[in-house]
Amino acid sequence: MWLLKTKKGPEYQTEDCPVIDKQVVASGYCRVALHAPVIARKVDPGQFVQIFMPPEHRDHMLPRPFSIFGANRKNGELVILLEIKGRGTDLLAGTGPGSSWKLLGPLGTGFPALSPASLLVAGGMGIAPLAFLAASAAVPCTLIYGARTAGQLICPQSDLNRPGLSLLETTEDGSRGEKGTAVDLLSRLIADAGTVFACGPRPMLAAVNNLCRRAGIEAWVSVEERMACGVGACLGCAVATGSGYKRACRDGPVFRAEEVILDG
Ligand SMILES: Cc1cc2nc3c(=O)[nH]c(=O)nc-3n(C[C@H](O)[C@H](O)[C@H](O)COP(=O)(O)OP(=O)(O)OC[C@H]3O[C@@H](n4cnc5c(N)ncnc54)[C@H](O)[C@@H]3O)c2cc1C
Ligand code: FES
Repeated sequence: MWLLKTKKGPEYQTEDCPVIDKQVVASGYCRVALHAPVIARKVDPGQFVQIFMPPEHRDHMLPRPFSIFGANRKNGELVILLEIKGRGTDLLAGTGPGSSWKLLGPLGTGFPALSPASLLVAGGMGIAPLAFLAASAAVPCTLIYGARTAGQLICPQSDLNRPGLSLLETTEDGSRGEKGTAVDLLSRLIADAGTVFACGPRPMLAAVNNLCRRAGIEAWVSVEERMACGVGACLGCAVATGSGYKRACRDGPVFRAEEVILDG
């Protein structure tokens, strides 16, 4: 095991985590529950973990970054929502209970605490960190969850049934929830919003930022850059900001929306 120590104690470390449960939630998507007591106890919404490949592939493939979708400090369960995109995610999704994943975390900066009337805006897999943020909130909040079509709203409803959480779904083709994009719905609700928190594709984040800026509302975004080390050492995840390049893995992935150059 290796770890980085700060004055407050270890900031992040590796942990070998048995897979407790794996559910295929839609074709190409699964929800994986792990026993990760050390990371689950420390992680904040918006932080992420690097997941190493199965041992036989570790030497020639880098770990991959994943948001925390759920964490239970009491029983040590950590949940990841995983979309199969390429070789790494395919290898991970091919394992299940009986195997163990090696994680490095918790990494990056989390979201600030929600204030009353906070609006959360998730596009596609952007639901992962925002579902965890909503579940951890001490105040009621509204979550807008959008995708192109109903089949892409893959987050299990049971993970979104939380007291105080008002869920509004949108699909571009109208096959579930309101017809239109998450940003269309945000534009109708923004007048009554407190702070806005968003995660999803870049164009969506840029549109959220533009809307919030015009309305004079504070907004935070989580950006998903490609990563290598995940701990701030390689500069492989540089994000352009108003004050130069920053590292998504260490200075983010959560940034003030106005700080990041999102539509460049
Ligand atoms: C902070 C952070 C949090 C993330 N959270 C989640 C999550 O909760 N669930 C989840 O399923 N995925 C998440 N991702 C994306 C996930 O890391 C990538 O899908 C994964 O690394 C792809 O690995 P691969 O080997 O399967 O694909 P590769 O073979 O490496 O690439 C396959 C395809 O995926 C694209 N891709 C690779 N990495 C990214 C990325 N970071 N963002 C967008 N496209 C990418 C590539 O351009 C390529 O088209 C997150 C990424 C970051 C940076
Ligand atoms: S991935 Fe290496 S600095 Fe961010």
